[in-house]
Amino acid sequence: EKGTYAHYMLKEIDEQPFVIRNIVQKYQDENHNIVLDNDIRQAMLNTDRVYIIACGTSYHAGLVGKQLIENLANIPVETHIASEFMYNMPLLSEKPLFIFISQSGETADSRGVLVNIKELGHKALTITNVPGSTLSREADYTLHTYAGPEIAVASTKAYTAQMAVLAILAGEAAKAKGIALDFDLIKELSIVANAMETLCDRKEELEQIAKDFLATTRNAFFIGRGIDFYVGLEGALKLKEISYIQAEGFAGGELKHGTIALIEKGTPVIALATQKHVNLSIRGNVKEVVARGANPCIISMDGLNDESDAFVVPAVHEILSPLVSVLPLQLISYYAALHRDCDVDKPRNLAKSVTVE
Ligand code: F6R
Repeated sequence: EKGTYAHYMLKEIDEQPFVIRNIVQKYQDENHNIVLDNDIRQAMLNTDRVYIIACGTSYHAGLVGKQLIENLANIPVETHIASEFMYNMPLLSEKPLFIFISQSGETADSRGVLVNIKELGHKALTITNVPGSTLSREADYTLHTYAGPEIAVASTKAYTAQMAVLAILAGEAAKAKGIALDFDLIKELSIVANAMETLCDRKEELEQIAKDFLATTRNAFFIGRGIDFYVGLEGALKLKEISYIQAEGFAGGELKHGTIALIEKGTPVIALATQKHVNLSIRGNVKEVVARGANPCIISMDGLNDESDAFVVPAVHEILSPLVSVLPLQLISYYAALHRDCDVDKPRNLAKSVTVE
């Protein structure tokens, strides 16, 4: 039930702090030890390369998952679009481990890959919001995202839940390998949940940003570097699917290699700046587009912010920043769609679960 909410999407955006807290709780026992099937730990320990397979928003979570697993657990990871992997399988490592990410657990493109790699004798872990779904049943192991039913076609809470579970998996893989993290992951996830809550209380600001930047525009660009780039891809997908504004996410340094030709006077460029080591370079990229007339909307993280930034999110651990920085993007898309009279929960041409290839 959406209760007092005008749309399921808004309700599900608001649920994200609770979802993250719920995950933190479900993945801990009473002694605060992480609850994780030992076979999954062993699988992470035994593999020489993880292959993450997913579609759409779940693929974007998988891109962040690559950063999490490589950075925390020091295991090489490749993230692939399921429908591409299906027909253009890369050379596999000697001991691959497959991770399927799927909110519904029913996505045909992902299932096709699962069937193929099982035939090859490889192990698979599914991260899903629906245990008992096809992808969960047919994989060797399952991790539940505990996000509760997601009704809106545009995925929001399932995405942040997927990244939280990937972080916990990465943390446990690190531990299994004897790598000591220099921070308390569970504590940092709780800080993320609190930050999400403060963002949910800043809807008016984000509604205004949607009006200022997206009320009448034909197109919009999202730029970022590293994980900010991945979040930008998700921000662009959200905006496209519910507001029908043509939107693209780009790596900050890549725009000038062609796409900058599309920048006109007033073109909105939403830039993410949550990563210290690329803060200056992404701001340099913003200057490049501003020089061509773009209307810049910088979304930064507290501590890295500049006076002219449109929106500053609370500081969280850098590697967990996507869980927080995506929230303003979800809300900006929501309000842009609302003001453009789009059917937020049921965008045209889209289905919640894509069970055809
Ligand atoms: C976008 C969206 C889709 C899904 C994709 C995969 O908001 O919801 O891009 O993420 O169809 O679906 P699942 O995660 O169910 O495999």
